[in-house]
Amino acid sequence: MSDLKILFLGDIFGRPGRKAVKENLATIRAEHNLDFVVANGENATSGRGLSAAHAQDLLQCGIDVITLGDHAFDQRDITQTLSSEQRVLRPANFTKGTAGRGFNTFTYQKDNITKKIGVMNLHGTVFMRMNVLCPFAASRVHMAEHTLGEDYDALIIDAHTEATSEIAALGHIWDGHASLVVGTHTHIPTADTRVQPNGTAFQSDAGMCGVFNSSLGMDFDGVVKRFENSRPYPMQPATGTATMCGVIVTVGDNGLATSVTPLRVGGDLQATGA
Ligand SMILES: [Fe+2]
Ligand SMILES: [Fe+2]
Repeated sequence: MSDLKILFLGDIFGRPGRKAVKENLATIRAEHNLDFVVANGENATSGRGLSAAHAQDLLQCGIDVITLGDHAFDQRDITQTLSSEQRVLRPANFTKGTAGRGFNTFTYQKDNITKKIGVMNLHGTVFMRMNVLCPFAASRVHMAEHTLGEDYDALIIDAHTEATSEIAALGHIWDGHASLVVGTHTHIPTADTRVQPNGTAFQSDAGMCGVFNSSLGMDFDGVVKRFENSRPYPMQPATGTATMCGVIVTVGDNGLATSVTPLRVGGDLQATGA
């Protein structure tokens, strides 16, 4: 058996984020010898959700699975995609009856060995506008029904959360049961990348694939007006070159992480990374 090397990319924001993925992902895949790529796509369409067409574009660029968040349903035609496309997930703890799924497994062929990779999307409850089921309860139910190393060879969890306290607690309860727990939603990459004591890699937020000379991907003009005044102003995605932010996790035969490294490529936040 051999290790799996998996890249997780933070929220892809607007046209600059999509362009960066389209132009750079094939090179990153080759340079880092990646087996599988998961990306959060909740802001890929003008910062507001993911259209059906952009979902297919991103899947064709080399992303294997797309996760979402509080913007999951901003684009109307994503509902049909969520029902028919196995590779696009919305948070698993959305209320019962919501279109789509929040967990799925995917087969990956490597060295004549078939590996099964699980991907799960969760949604936080602290400082977030959506009504969702408890992500801790959803996690406990999943853990009771699935076992890392038996039901899948790796499990990647995108926990879409605002508060670092909540993602840290989620990372802790999953330690030993997942390969990686990584946050999305704040768009700011955090400096706490590590493998936890029981072998689950963790980073509070992956950051975004977007323009960093901005407010979370949006042009400053409308955002500053919103903060300075008492009424909303229209906001537009920032223009410029996006930085691609994420983490690369190496997963051993038992499904636990052997290493995890942040990745930042291009744009204002370029770093050497992995
Ligand atoms: Fe986001
Ligand atoms: Fe979000």
